[in-house]
Amino acid sequence: MELRYVSIYLVIGTRPQIIKSAPIIHESLKQGLEMKIIHTGQHYDYELSQVFLEEFSLPKPSINLNVGSGSHTFQTAEIMLRLEKFLLNEKPSILSIPGDTNSALGGALTSAKLGVPIAHIEAGARCYDMKMAEEINRRLIDHCSEILFAPTTNCKENLEKESVIGKIHLTGDTMYDIFLKFKDKVHKCDIFDRLDLSEKEYSLLTLHRSENVDDPAKLRSILKGIQESEINVLFPIHPRTKNRLKEQNISLEKSTIKTIEPLDYIEMLKLLKHARIMLTDSGGVQKEAFWSKTPCITIRDRTEWTETVEMGVNLLSEADPNKLMKTIKDVEENYREIKRKFKGNPFGDGRASNRIIKILKNNLVRYSKKGN
Ligand code: UD1
Repeated sequence: MELRYVSIYLVIGTRPQIIKSAPIIHESLKQGLEMKIIHTGQHYDYELSQVFLEEFSLPKPSINLNVGSGSHTFQTAEIMLRLEKFLLNEKPSILSIPGDTNSALGGALTSAKLGVPIAHIEAGARCYDMKMAEEINRRLIDHCSEILFAPTTNCKENLEKESVIGKIHLTGDTMYDIFLKFKDKVHKCDIFDRLDLSEKEYSLLTLHRSENVDDPAKLRSILKGIQESEINVLFPIHPRTKNRLKEQNISLEKSTIKTIEPLDYIEMLKLLKHARIMLTDSGGVQKEAFWSKTPCITIRDRTEWTETVEMGVNLLSEADPNKLMKTIKDVEENYREIKRKFKGNPFGDGRASNRIIKILKNNLVRYSKKGN
């Protein structure tokens, strides 16, 4: 049977999606599969998007939907409207979608409505907190995907419990693939000289979840807890958080928290490797801290990456100053013991992208035979 022309697209729009996708794109080039990129434009600042496309030497996106900022509904709906036109023209055989952002949801809903099969990368992550936009997004995406790439056994089991319709593949985590590729390059990065830093003399903070930073009282509580524990903190600041600090007239000058511009990937890995403690509300950074063997405090009530919490190397803390101070004190007092608890890796063997591309190639053949 003659194969019809088939094409595969990948939807990205935000910083974490570019990081998760980079090793997949590298692997697709290696395995001779042309994977075209659709950028939604959800992140448009150089430091949140273009810098990563350059750092990972990714091909230029076929299209940028230029959606920009707005409410969740606006972003999702606008992505759907703009993407629909593009997909109707291009008729891809598969749309691959990494993660759980509004760009991912917009991509998945459009695809589902047009009957284009979806391959979800990082499927099955759950924190069981429906107040988080990402939890809603990832559940919806998983339930309209035909192919689900689960990064961990936990994620695979979550999908099985929910009886998703698509086919589940346990692949490992593509973020680990890219971490392994870059971890030995950190010596080339001169950020220590630029910031005049010494190893283990600083802790690192990232904070951008809307549940934490859009509520002024919560934002103040978190910063108070950190400042009162008197650890030296470096804070690469996300634009959302920077805006909130400005709106609330919160100044971190003359405090123990030093703000810096957002980091590129290699800078982040270097700072993470030598940080004493990682304080974060990000999903991906919890995993990067784990691979860097840096004790982590996650400023959230729940996490998707429960394996790291069960191991005792990632401690959850509510956004309450006293609880946060106590957690920081606990980590400081038990530092050596925590460092000894890093064991194994539930996130795969660094070959997730290789498996994902092989599976996608097989599916492309299947779909093209069906005349999709
Ligand atoms: C989004 C994702 C989140 C991911 C995060 C990584 C959703 C629901 N959230 O959150 O899962 O962890 O990306 O950063 O999709 N802004 C800029 N420049 C930009 C982009 C945003 O200044 O390039 C500012 C704007 O004021 C904007 C705000 O940041 O309103 C929030 O951006 P948005 O894309 O809506 O969400 P993130 O907080 O980045």
